Amino acid sequence: MGDTSNVVQDFHNLDGSATSSHAFRFLDTLNASQQVQQMQALAHRMLELTPGARVLDAGCGVGDVARELAALVGPTGHVTGVDLSEAMVHEAAHRTRGLGLPVDFQQGDVHALGLPTHGFDACRASRVFIYLEDPRQALSELLRLTRPGGPVVLFEPELDSWVLDGPDRGVVRALVHFWADQLRNPWIARQLPALFMSLGVKQVSAVPVVGTWVLGMLETFGFHAVLEKAIAQGVVSQAQADAWVRFLKDSQREGSFYGSMSGMVVRGIKPGP
Ligand SMILES: C[S@@+](CC[C@H](N)C(=O)[O-])C[C@H]1O[C@@H](n2cnc3c(N)ncnc32)[C@H](O)[C@@H]1O
Repeated sequence: MGDTSNVVQDFHNLDGSATSSHAFRFLDTLNASQQVQQMQALAHRMLELTPGARVLDAGCGVGDVARELAALVGPTGHVTGVDLSEAMVHEAAHRTRGLGLPVDFQQGDVHALGLPTHGFDACRASRVFIYLEDPRQALSELLRLTRPGGPVVLFEPELDSWVLDGPDRGVVRALVHFWADQLRNPWIARQLPALFMSLGVKQVSAVPVVGTWVLGMLETFGFHAVLEKAIAQGVVSQAQADAWVRFLKDSQREGSFYGSMSGMVVRGIKPGP
């Protein structure tokens, strides 16, 4: 059935899963899409960065966002990218070497980072909270690190919001829900505004966003591995899954494929002083 790596599930433990090369490919595929770039640009604007700002990118992946932010804060500012995965940190540092950007990459767990309280003018994370064991603890940690009056901005996808066509609505619905449930926090995007407020964050705003997908992006996102698991668990039959895959491939070949997923960019201000 093609690539059966499941980077989606493994993002909370990449170094233990030996799938880091798939993870790099996944991020490169998605980050090159216009939709992700638009959503990241929106998140950048909501950070309201000025030259000289100190920014934290938590769960920085291969460092694409950290490098973009480093260009925005300029030589008097600084961006720190942290990631749980040593492989990601190594790759991010490797891709940044020689660029002369004010950015550094460190290994760390966003639930408890050994960084100074109020050490950043702004903190952000994108596509990280869906994987976390304790999103509340992680947001508390980002708030601890943000200076009073500074923004925290999170961008997360809404995993149950896949819009995909297929020959059998029941099969598509069952697989979309099954796929979402592979993640620790598939509903985190819709829950973030309440989470921000419950931690006393001020001026909370949330902007829903929608991105379109091509079939190749779905496949990089673990589509085939999820299908195989769903068949093994009796969620759908092999024949039902095959019929859906055939439908999607045909529509991709004919140029009629449509796939989308929504997400949320949420911003709040750390109260202070
Ligand atoms: C889908 S990638 C997103 C990368 C990047 N933020 C972006 O938007 O391109 C998720 C990243 O979160 C990292 N991650 C997962 N759990 C983490 C944790 N507890 N602390 C820090 N990083 C974590 C993963 O290693 C991975 O690099």
